[in-house]
Amino acid sequence: MTEITKSYNEQAQDYDNFIRKLVPDYEVFHDVLVSFLNKPSTVLDIGCGTGNSSACLKNNNPNVKLTCLDTSPQMLNIAMSKLGSQHIFYESSIENFEIDQQFDAVVSIMVMHNIQKISERLKSYQKIANALRSGGSYLSVDIFLGENDKLQSVYMIQWRDFMLKNISKNEVDGKWLKLHKEKDKPIKLSEHMRLLGKAGFTTIDVLHKRFQFAMTIAQL
Ligand SMILES: C[S@@+](CC[C@H](N)C(=O)[O-])C[C@H]1O[C@@H](n2cnc3c(N)ncnc32)[C@H](O)[C@@H]1O
Repeated sequence: MTEITKSYNEQAQDYDNFIRKLVPDYEVFHDVLVSFLNKPSTVLDIGCGTGNSSACLKNNNPNVKLTCLDTSPQMLNIAMSKLGSQHIFYESSIENFEIDQQFDAVVSIMVMHNIQKISERLKSYQKIANALRSGGSYLSVDIFLGENDKLQSVYMIQWRDFMLKNISKNEVDGKWLKLHKEKDKPIKLSEHMRLLGKAGFTTIDVLHKRFQFAMTIAQL
């Protein structure tokens, strides 16, 4: 088990209590997700975590068939109890997962910054492109690097100020920002869009952005 998976396993039980305090506009991103995906029948939720995005899609369409993928068994257990055993759950990384069916939509919310190599990110985007039915959409939310050093410092200040509204300074600096610096591998939003294009997507747009957090839609 990788250090990243161990860390998510440890976070799983408390995840739903803290995630809204860490990710600005977490709820807004989910509102946009539901409004842009027109009641898809089949969805692949990559890095489903505790199942929050899938739960939103299920609330909007109780007949949706969800396939949920995550490296953390602890996260998957919570997702399973939230969503129900009629859905499909796989313990795997997107890098190691062979997708053998097609979906109306693929979503990855705050996941891809965990992929350590750009080449693996590109392969994952290509896998997603191949897994989409014609007319399907890939919706992704992630943390990105600012397009230059100045923007990056502004975003980091804004993000830290956001977290400090609900979390102690010791926890923000000593835990969350430390974890971010040590483990996350964000790329620039422009690079993410370039890689999506390279993976075969032709329509790529930003649906919502707050500080360095952005949601993109990609279609073939
Ligand atoms: C920040 S959480 C996001 C969870 C959920 N998508 C949400 O929006 O609340 C990231 C999740 O991605 C999973 N994860 C990390 N790297 C992954 C990878 N390479 N492939 C699949 N899942 C991964 C983690 O175990 C964790 O549950």
